[in-house]
Amino acid sequence: MKLSVIGTGYVGLVTGSCFADLGHQVTCVDVDKAKVASLKRGKVPIYEPGLEEIVRRNRGRRLFFTTDTAAAVRESEVVFIAVSTPPGASGEADIRNVIQAAKVIGAAIRGYKIIVNKSTVPIGMTHVVGDILRSTAPPDATFDVVSNPEFLREGSAVQDLFKPDRVVIGAENRDAALRVAAIYKPVNAPVLITDPESAEMVKYASNAFLAAKISYINEISNLCEKVGADVVQVVKGMGMDPRIGGQFFNAGLGVGGSCFPKDVMALNHLGKRYGAPFKILPGVMEVNHGQRLAFVRKVKDLAGPLKGKTLAVWGLAFKPNTDDMREAPSLEILPALRKAGAKLRAYDPVAMPVARKILKGVTYCATALEAARGADALLILTEWNEFKETDLERLKAALKRPLVVDGRNLYEPAALAAHGFTYAGMGRGVRPIG
Ligand SMILES: NC(=O)c1ccc[n+]([C@@H]2O[C@H](COP(=O)([O-])OP(=O)(O)OC[C@H]3O[C@@H](n4cnc5c(N)ncnc54)[C@H](O)[C@@H]3O)[C@@H](O)[C@H]2O)c1
Repeated sequence: MKLSVIGTGYVGLVTGSCFADLGHQVTCVDVDKAKVASLKRGKVPIYEPGLEEIVRRNRGRRLFFTTDTAAAVRESEVVFIAVSTPPGASGEADIRNVIQAAKVIGAAIRGYKIIVNKSTVPIGMTHVVGDILRSTAPPDATFDVVSNPEFLREGSAVQDLFKPDRVVIGAENRDAALRVAAIYKPVNAPVLITDPESAEMVKYASNAFLAAKISYINEISNLCEKVGADVVQVVKGMGMDPRIGGQFFNAGLGVGGSCFPKDVMALNHLGKRYGAPFKILPGVMEVNHGQRLAFVRKVKDLAGPLKGKTLAVWGLAFKPNTDDMREAPSLEILPALRKAGAKLRAYDPVAMPVARKILKGVTYCATALEAARGADALLILTEWNEFKETDLERLKAALKRPLVVDGRNLYEPAALAAHGFTYAGMGRGVRPIG
């Protein structure tokens, strides 16, 4: 099929490139001229495992980049909207990019088109987009609007696109829904075809549920610390119950990234707006924020007064395998440590170019061990595999003091203790069972 994807960020670029790889002809559009120019040269502006190769394989054959939305729409049978929907001032989703994109798409429609909204949007937006298209499209143009929320995870986005757990499609017109489902046919995923409101709700409700799951286990982990239980063991035991499941269930520094915090706030806002206020969701975000504060307290407790101390920080991105720094715990934790007088030496395998622009007053180091050199403590903020494989003896030799505060429970306390480290994780730090 001939497709276009409006918005070439984490979702749009991955979706467009993977659709091209599946055999469709795809034009990716963005208003960001520098981004488009870079993509035209074959340079992928974000870090996402496997993406660069897919872009390289398809660019100029089935995958094209442009800033001209109208031209892309005219050539496409199906137009995906994948623009950003950042948080607004009161927590609501800021939908101005979607509205702007819909206006340009509407004016460019000739004949029949299917417009698919992939951005995460407030419930009812499929109809809002329909209204905009009706008011901007020429009188003889016809179209259907379809909701197709995206569930990919940064860091494994390509894999998620080719092997999704589900494809959710919301539409008034079943034929339009089936045509969108046909785009995904090669990935052979379970497809839910439903009404637009339910499809839109699936996205928010799923993200808020996952954030709640993390906040729940974080509260349990805080109690584990008080009563001498190990939250990692607790999660293991709980996860054996298939109704609970062990996935996305780790205590630590809480959720971050461009989606979870903003989607929880947006759903909470919708609840208030429609007179069905949530009691759970404000707590989810409060606990999330509390984890970052608790970590800073833990560092102060264990390292002593931070004035003049040097702290090594491993991991800056909000999770491994991405350079996305949006809502990363590091953005709250590092300024708090600096404010307390600490000098910071940081390392992240891929996020440092992004971090440099937003986290000032930090010494960025070329390797993990270099960051650790001479530090009074090592803090782990992102659970990169590279850190897991560190030679503990070399780490101990690099640090001034063998203290590790592990915000992601990356290490086994007993293993660190055996190498002579003082170690604190989140919700554990109890005696090793041996
Ligand atoms: N990032 C994720 O993991 C993820 C996962 C699922 C869903 N989503 C949702 O998908 C949407 C996109 O997220 P993202 O992370 O890809 O955002 P992003 O910020 O990485 O990229 C969005 C892109 O849209 C472009 N853009 C904005 N307005 C435009 C317009 N009018 N015309 C053309 N381009 C325009 C921006 O320049 C930017 O390049 C959001 O609604 C988000 O909530 C994101």
